Amino acid sequence: MGRLDGKVAIITGGTSGIGLETVRIFVQEGCKVMFCGRGEKVGEQIATELGESCAFTKCDVNVESEIKNVIDKTVEKWGKLDILFNNAGGPVGPFRVDQVKKEHLDANFSLNFNSMVLATKHALPHLVKQPTSSIINNSSIAAKKAGFGDPLYSACKGAMDSYSRVAAMQLAPRGVRINCVSPGATATPIFWSGSPGSARGAKLTAEENARKQQKVEANIMNNCASLRVGRAGTGIDIARAVCFLASDESMWITGQDLTVDGGMTAFDAPNKGWMADPNPVDPVPLRHKLSKL
Ligand SMILES: NC(=O)c1ccc[n+]([C@@H]2O[C@H](COP(=O)([O-])OP(=O)(O)OC[C@H]3O[C@@H](n4cnc5c(N)ncnc54)[C@H](OP(=O)(O)O)[C@@H]3O)[C@@H](O)[C@H]2O)c1
Repeated sequence: MGRLDGKVAIITGGTSGIGLETVRIFVQEGCKVMFCGRGEKVGEQIATELGESCAFTKCDVNVESEIKNVIDKTVEKWGKLDILFNNAGGPVGPFRVDQVKKEHLDANFSLNFNSMVLATKHALPHLVKQPTSSIINNSSIAAKKAGFGDPLYSACKGAMDSYSRVAAMQLAPRGVRINCVSPGATATPIFWSGSPGSARGAKLTAEENARKQQKVEANIMNNCASLRVGRAGTGIDIARAVCFLASDESMWITGQDLTVDGGMTAFDAPNKGWMADPNPVDPVPLRHKLSKL
């Protein structure tokens, strides 16, 4: 018996990385899954490969009518909706604090925050009809600590955290849970802007992606001195946590944020001194000159 048997889910941004692994695990666990993204060709290929429990709808989550279309199509096809994973997102930048423009703000919030709020709104009339339903929002450790994203991306994820916590309290009496998952640096195409619907991703071959994946996994190991578990995380590590939050196993968990980062944020010792790593790496260069003042 699957952990999501009989349930129907929508996953935004299911063509790549964390979203794609979540599509796979949800299908394995007995769920019917509608996923979306801008990369139509790849999306259709994945849906064909995973069989009739899985369907793809092209959608740019920056466009409200396209988000609503994904939800309408899901309910048309499978008659209900139990789970919404707001996953599509990523940094639009990075931008320097002194060079930011209003369009940078709008683009970041549109992709990473507004899309989640609007998908939640349009999914809600269907989610409340189910005895138990679950929304999972893909946040980030960048919302909690400096060093994992630029200021705008980090702020969008911080806004997502606050929204999720308070919205969860509004929706609890209606049987809808909302939780966040906060991945640490996880080796996916986000690091080389390679998701299928992006300008760059559309041109990359499978071999190029595989090479970049290996390089990013090595970079994460080299640059995160706190990563003691001995390997970088990949999409599947996050997808497993999302599956738990989507399932009824987490029925009494709402308004929470589950960090999945191989211990990156748990380790807070300085890179020097008696706990020093053999080859310490300072993520932020120290301002040596200040000591001379
Ligand atoms: N990887 C990490 O280290 C990490 C850490 C913390 C949080 N996260 C979060 O995890 C989520 C997934 O990231 P990932 O690492 O799996 O990155 P990824 O491999 O680049 O995947 C991003 C997914 O989002 C979709 N997407 C992007 N823009 C979209 C748009 N405008 N409309 C519809 N879909 C769109 C992409 O599909 P198309 O290209 O087909 O549109 C793709 O399926 C993001 O919200 C990210 O912020 C990632």
